[in-house]
Amino acid sequence: MEKMFKLSSGIQCDVLIVGAGGAGLRCAAHILEKRPGTKIIAVTKVSHPQKSHTSTAQGGLAAVDPNDIVDKPIYHMFDTWKGSDCMADQSVVRKIVDAAWEEIVWLENRGMHFTRDEEGRLSKRTFGGHTVRFGEGTAFRAVFEADRTGKGIMDNVWGEALKGGVTFLDQTILTELLFKNGCCVGAVLFMEKKGEFVGVSAKAVVLATGGCGQVFRVTTNCRQNTGDAHAVVLQAGLPLMDMEAVQFHPTGIVGPGILASETLRSVGGILRNKDLEPFMAKYAPKMKEMAPRDLVARAIETEIREGRGILNPDHNIEHVWIDLRHLSDYVHEVQIPEVSGFFKQFMNLNPRTHLCPVRPSNHYQMGGIPTNSFGEVQKSPDTIIFGLYAAGECGCASFHGFNRLGTNSILELITMGRFVGERVLQYMEERAESLPADAGDRTFSQFAEYLENKNEENIEQIREEMRRMMTENVGVFRTEEGLNTAIRALYAWKERVRSAALRCRGLQMNQELVQRWELDNLLSVSMVIAQGALRRRESRGGHARIDFPLRRDEFNCHTLAYMTDFGKIRFADQRVDMSIYEAKGENFEKFGMIERKY
Ligand code: FUM
Repeated sequence: MEKMFKLSSGIQCDVLIVGAGGAGLRCAAHILEKRPGTKIIAVTKVSHPQKSHTSTAQGGLAAVDPNDIVDKPIYHMFDTWKGSDCMADQSVVRKIVDAAWEEIVWLENRGMHFTRDEEGRLSKRTFGGHTVRFGEGTAFRAVFEADRTGKGIMDNVWGEALKGGVTFLDQTILTELLFKNGCCVGAVLFMEKKGEFVGVSAKAVVLATGGCGQVFRVTTNCRQNTGDAHAVVLQAGLPLMDMEAVQFHPTGIVGPGILASETLRSVGGILRNKDLEPFMAKYAPKMKEMAPRDLVARAIETEIREGRGILNPDHNIEHVWIDLRHLSDYVHEVQIPEVSGFFKQFMNLNPRTHLCPVRPSNHYQMGGIPTNSFGEVQKSPDTIIFGLYAAGECGCASFHGFNRLGTNSILELITMGRFVGERVLQYMEERAESLPADAGDRTFSQFAEYLENKNEENIEQIREEMRRMMTENVGVFRTEEGLNTAIRALYAWKERVRSAALRCRGLQMNQELVQRWELDNLLSVSMVIAQGALRRRESRGGHARIDFPLRRDEFNCHTLAYMTDFGKIRFADQRVDMSIYEAKGENFEKFGMIERKY
C-alpha cells in the first residue's frame, strides 16, 4: 500500500502559511505590503478561511490607547504578568504591549468597524484582570466590534491577503515538515478534495493552525482545532512548551460549551448559584466577576462541587447562572447582540427575562510550539530552527504564561503574525532549497497503516470517550490520581486505534481517514498535557492541582516536552524571561514573583 502513494508534482513558493486564520493572514498581509509579489500559499483545513476559529472571537482586543489619560502600557504589562501567574516571558510581554495600538490603527485603516460611542470615540470595555495603577482601578482597554470582534478581524486580514494575491488551498492538511541541513525547507500536505499528497518547497514555513481545544469534550473551540501542527512538530523531534497550561473559560453555555463572552460580566452580568446568591465576592473580594478567568472558573466549579450548582434534568449537567436580566435594552441590543442570540438559539431562553445556565468550558491553550519573540520555532532553550515559524494559538512565545487575560489572545495573534512576517522577510532573501529525497516517507507509512488495518473499532466513539475523560480528569481541577487515570486511558486508546480499520479506504474526500489522523493528533497532544500536568506538582494559573494547591518556586520555569514515541516524553526546563524585573527600572518590583490576589 505504502508504495502506491506518491507526492504529486511539487509546488514551490516563497512562504507556506499553514492555517488561514488571524495570525496566518496578518503575517501574509505584512509580507505582501512590504514585498508585493511574494508567492505565498495559505493552507486551511476548513472549506473557507472565514471558517477559521479566529472568526468566533467575541469580546475584543486589548491595546492601550496612547491618548488615554489614565491607562499606560506598563499597567497592561503588569496585568499580563500578574495574570500569567509569573510565567509570561517579559521581553515578549513588553514587545506585544508596545506594538498593540499600531495594530488597532492598522486594522481600522483597512476597514475594521470598531464600535464607537456617540461622540465618535472608540468604545472600550474592561475584561478580567485589566487594571490601572497596578491593580488599583479598572482599565477600559479592550476595543471591540460589538461581540463579534474576530469576524471583523477575519474580514480584514482575509481581504488584505486576497488583494495581495495569496493562493489559498482549502480542505488541506499538513502531515509532515521537511528539513535539510537542520533548516525547514517545506512540508508535505494532503489535499482532501483530490486525495493527493503534495510536497511544497518554501523558503519559510509558518505554522498558524490555532489551538487543540477538541482534546476536551466541553469546549468553545471549533471542530477543526485538533492540535495538528502540535502533533506534526512533535513527530519532527521538536518540543512543545507548557502544554499543561490550559484555560477554561468560566462561562460556556451549558451543554455545547459555546462561548458566552466575558463581555457579559464586563457589562454587568452577575454570577449566581442555586440560592441566587452572587458568589464571586467570596473568591475575589475586589474584582469579583471581573477577576481573571482561572480564578472565576475555579469559583464556579467550587460552587458546583460544594452543592450549590443547579441540575437541570433536561440536560443533566450541573451549572450556575449568569444573570443579565437587569441590563438595559441598549446593552442587550448593541453590546451583546450575538451572545444574547446564542442563549435563544441554543437554550431557547430570553436573557432579558431568564437566568442563563453557564459552566466552565475549555477555551484556550496557553502552551504550544515554543518560539522566541520573533516567532522563530525553538528546538531547545538556546537554538532555533531556521525557516520555521509559529504564531497565534499554536505558538508559544509565552505572552500569556499560565493564564491568559481576556482579549490578549487576539492581540497576540495579530502582533505575532506581523512579527513573524517581519522576520520571514529578512530570512527568505537568502534561501532556496530543494526538498529532501525522503520527503513524504513518514506520511506514507502513517497513512498506509490507517488504510491497511483490519480490526473493527469505532474511531468516533474512541474520540468522544477520550474527550470526555480529558474533561473529567485533566479539567479545571486536577489530581495525581486523575492524571494517572488519564495517562493509562490514553495508552489504552492508542493501542486500540493502532489497528483500527476504516470503513472507507479511498483517499479522495475520505472524512474518516482525516478523522483517524486527527485522533492520533488529539491523543498525542492529550498525552503531553496530562504528563506535563502530572509532573508539575503545584498550582499555577490555569493548572490547578487539588493535591498541590499552592504555587511553588521550584516550578518557576517553562516545561519543554519532546515526544517522538507515543507516551515516552523527555522533559526539559526553560527559564522564564524576567528582563523587566532584572532591568531594575521604574516599578520593576511589580514584575517579580508577586502574589496573585484580586
Ligand atoms: O470572553 C470572551 O469574549 C473571550 C475573549 C478572549 O478569549 O479573549
